[in-house]
Amino acid sequence: MKPVYITQFLVEEQRAMGESAPDLRLLIEVVTRACKRISIAIGKGALGGVLGEAGTGNVQGEAQKKLDVLSNDILMEANEWGGHLAALASEEMEHPQPIPEQYPQGGYLLLFDPLDGSSNIDVNISVGTIFSVLRAPEGTDIAHAEKAFLQPGVKQVAAGYTVYGPSTILVLTIGTGVHQFTLDREIGSFVLTQRDLKIPEQTREFSINASNARYWDAPVKRYIDDCLAGKDGPRGQDFNMRWVASMVADVHRILTRGGVFLYPIDSKTREQGGKLRLLYEANPMAFIVEQAGGAASTGHQRILDIQPEKLHQRIPVILGSRLEVETAVRYHGQG
Ligand code: AHG
Ligand code: MN
Ligand code: MN
Repeated sequence: MKPVYITQFLVEEQRAMGESAPDLRLLIEVVTRACKRISIAIGKGALGGVLGEAGTGNVQGEAQKKLDVLSNDILMEANEWGGHLAALASEEMEHPQPIPEQYPQGGYLLLFDPLDGSSNIDVNISVGTIFSVLRAPEGTDIAHAEKAFLQPGVKQVAAGYTVYGPSTILVLTIGTGVHQFTLDREIGSFVLTQRDLKIPEQTREFSINASNARYWDAPVKRYIDDCLAGKDGPRGQDFNMRWVASMVADVHRILTRGGVFLYPIDSKTREQGGKLRLLYEANPMAFIVEQAGGAASTGHQRILDIQPEKLHQRIPVILGSRLEVETAVRYHGQG
């Protein structure tokens, strides 16, 4: 069978993208081109001098790795001149960046987590990039661009992630299902390798950082205890557990074979609202997971319905196989 390269795929999907199709297509192509560069840098590892600490901190108060900074720079540089964006926002930057005046302005907003799973960089475990695309509201005042980004996840027009793993893959939705591409390293192009991914509705696999157990709220404790009790407990079946600590890799496993991923709020993260970021992590992943037939909730609310209040807002996340997410949410309803 002839390979379908991402450009051909996007041309064929243009009709689903509506009026501004060429711009959105260009935007996605530019993002994926930047991701190829990130993939090449990661692939060089120690030989490329890209491992280790950058010696700086980000707005989240987190120490930045060299690759956090490099990936952010690559995405910024690639996206500023194309004429398809009004502004960009990144997990690594305190404020949104308007497109510099010398370049044409476009109608979209791009948000990204340039490097997800930073703690895994130096140990050669899969990391990735997550991105989300919104329409810039009419008459967006670039000087006050932050407000333009505060749109609920249901407004996303596209979202995707890459996993820089044994192979580099790209998972993308433009609201017409979820499609997977694999980077052909010799040719340098993403090739469509799976159309219309669907998450199995049921699962026996959960994904949570269990070292936080003593900080969890009662509903999460009860839910995990019941999973761990297996066939001897109320769930009546054994569960398996996986935790990569790169959201991209954990979500990708769930997209491939089912599962439920939880990063709940706990007494350690209560003040900041949770661990994962709504605009750069939760929303794009929730859009992808829902498009693949799964569900995504905070435990109390569908993630995609949340009206963001702050650019770097954090929230609790439960996502994955639809019936298992519903079960975990039911535990929250019980107080
Ligand atoms: P980032 O590297 O962008 O800061 O995100 C890391 C996130 C996410 O990828 C992962 O699921 C989680 O943090 C890992 O958290 P723990 O270190 O608590 O396991
Ligand atoms: Mn992340
Ligand atoms: Mn990150």
